[in-house]
Amino acid sequence: LTSAGRPQDLAGLRVVVSAGGTREPIDPVRYLGNRSSGRQGVAIAVEAAFRGAVVELVAANIGSDVLAAAEQAGIGIRAVGTAAQLAEAMRAAAARTDVVVMAAAVADYRPATVSDQKLTKESGLLERIELVENEDVVAGLAAARAEGAAPDGQTIVAFAAETAIDPEQRRDRARRKRERKGVDLLAVNLVDDERGFEALDNAVEVIGAAGRVVAAAEGTKREVAQALWDAVRQARQARQG
Ligand code: CTP
Ligand code: CA
Repeated sequence: LTSAGRPQDLAGLRVVVSAGGTREPIDPVRYLGNRSSGRQGVAIAVEAAFRGAVVELVAANIGSDVLAAAEQAGIGIRAVGTAAQLAEAMRAAAARTDVVVMAAAVADYRPATVSDQKLTKESGLLERIELVENEDVVAGLAAARAEGAAPDGQTIVAFAAETAIDPEQRRDRARRKRERKGVDLLAVNLVDDERGFEALDNAVEVIGAAGRVVAAAEGTKREVAQALWDAVRQARQARQG
């Protein structure tokens, strides 16, 4: 895998990509997590590097086998564990990047308290775990941009994994989510048995300005990454006029 044959159409762009999935500790041996392998996010980061961008990767609990591709591409990697750590790393990076791609699966909730001792069945404390909501990281980055705390013309991309079968229902959910978060592009990922989390292939539709479907890609995570960067470039050109 090399940059050979790739257009250098992202040269000069500073990019941060979050990938993987956060883990929220319950006690020293347990956590709340999700099934994101980080493969799609790493493919997006690697594709950007091959096309000439300067790339930072914020990696939430990604296996070394998956991370190897990013290391080989010379990408700066910052490892994080929890949603709070991911939020801090993304805030710092987004203050100096032209494009933010939020491909990480962020835990929506975390345990209200973290025990420093392993919880036992006998204690009864494992029967119910009180949760508190995590901050919405990408919505926070969009709000910071609106307040001028980001480079001019920054593009923010979010992802949404959806399991709804009906495509129109999926698109409508995605349109609402894009508006709510204040991001430019929202890539909707269809999760089923063959595609999405932990799988090698993905099916993605990208929702852009005015809720329009601006790109669609189905195939390997690398093919999806290529389509995503084409959509980012188009969105940036459209805005620059
Ligand atoms: N996201 C985030 N911070 C959170 C939750 C989600 O930054 N606390 C980001 C994800 O990284 C993704 C996008 O928001 O880019 C959409 O995530 P998703 O889970 O689909 O959205 P939610 O707002 O959490 O809605 P849902 O109730 O469908 O999970
Ligand atoms: Ca969520």
